[in-house]
Amino acid sequence: MVYLKWRASIALNTLIVSALAIPYSPAVDCDRAALSEAADAYITAQTTGSLDPLQKLLSSNWTYLENNKATTPTTSVLHKALKIDHRRTNYDLVACATYTELISTTGPYTLATQIRHGADKKKIASIDTIAATTGAWLFNATKTLGYVKQESWPPIPPANRDSRAVIQAAGDAYLDMWSSTTADKLVPWGTPCVRLEGSAYTGSGSANDSCKPGIPSNHSQAPNTHRRYVIDEDMGSVSIFCVWEHMMMAADSHEFRLEGGKLRFVHTMTECGGRVCKL
Ligand SMILES: *[C@@H]1O[C@H](CO)[C@@H](O)[C@H](O)[C@H]1NC(C)=O
Ligand SMILES: *[C@@H]1O[C@H](CO)[C@@H](O)[C@H](O)[C@H]1NC(C)=O
Ligand SMILES: *[C@@H]1O[C@H](CO)[C@@H](O)[C@H](O)[C@H]1NC(C)=O
Ligand SMILES: *[C@@H]1O[C@H](CO)[C@@H](O)[C@H](O)[C@H]1NC(C)=O
Repeated sequence: MVYLKWRASIALNTLIVSALAIPYSPAVDCDRAALSEAADAYITAQTTGSLDPLQKLLSSNWTYLENNKATTPTTSVLHKALKIDHRRTNYDLVACATYTELISTTGPYTLATQIRHGADKKKIASIDTIAATTGAWLFNATKTLGYVKQESWPPIPPANRDSRAVIQAAGDAYLDMWSSTTADKLVPWGTPCVRLEGSAYTGSGSANDSCKPGIPSNHSQAPNTHRRYVIDEDMGSVSIFCVWEHMMMAADSHEFRLEGGKLRFVHTMTECGGRVCKL
């Protein structure tokens, strides 16, 4: 399986449903319009707190995951009508999937959602959401929104685009830093580079901003596992959902953007299942 790195993990396997293991066909020619329609319908569903806008686009056996657990959609955040202050959707035209970053200051919620499409490349096979709210690690949706609005994520000019493999490798190297002594040397550190972790921002707007301060110095921690990827070469980005085994098995979303082969932006959302996350 290309996009999942399963590792033996004890109690967790009982929490994470088999939905994560949906075999994914390395499809080509994904239908961008279908991906876009589904992402838009998801936004409408989240805005109205109703599954109705999604209904006709769902596979009969679609699955819904919230914070790495199979969840009944009607008791989930998806069933809460939220006023959305920010939305950005990235497209993976190889995996037939989208990644959407959402902020609702009144929720308050920050939501990271990967939508995967089935073999027909049209119907939704799964909706996978990391939902952070009050109490989540470094959570403050208003502050997060302020930082997100300062950033510019235009499409990368075609001549400067990095390959899927390069983009994914950068994200994987970064997430390996907790459990590998060599991973930090594989991260293509760029300058400027800023990290938005929950509502904590490392950038000062300076041309010399670096993403290196504060990276893990202990490389013997439990790994970041059960990774799910959405890669958008046009945006230079990869969204990776995973389990932060070193932080109370938290549900985590990391998104990385490369510009010219170098790391430029890191966005994270991390939820400890209603408990206050502690490092
Ligand atoms: C849903 O059905 C499709 C088509 O039969 C199948 O390929 C897929 O594995 C099923 N997904 C789940 C989660 O059972
Ligand atoms: C969140 O951040 C905003 C803007 O910085 C601040 O005004 C507000 O007090 C913060 N909220 C909480 C709950 O800390
Ligand atoms: C980065 O630039 C700012 C001024 O723009 C300066 O204050 C700061 O010391 C510089 N940091 C480093 C690490 O060079
Ligand atoms: C690194 O993390 C491991 C696992 O949590 C812990 O046992 C160890 O004490 C830590 N080492 C240092 C130097 O903090």
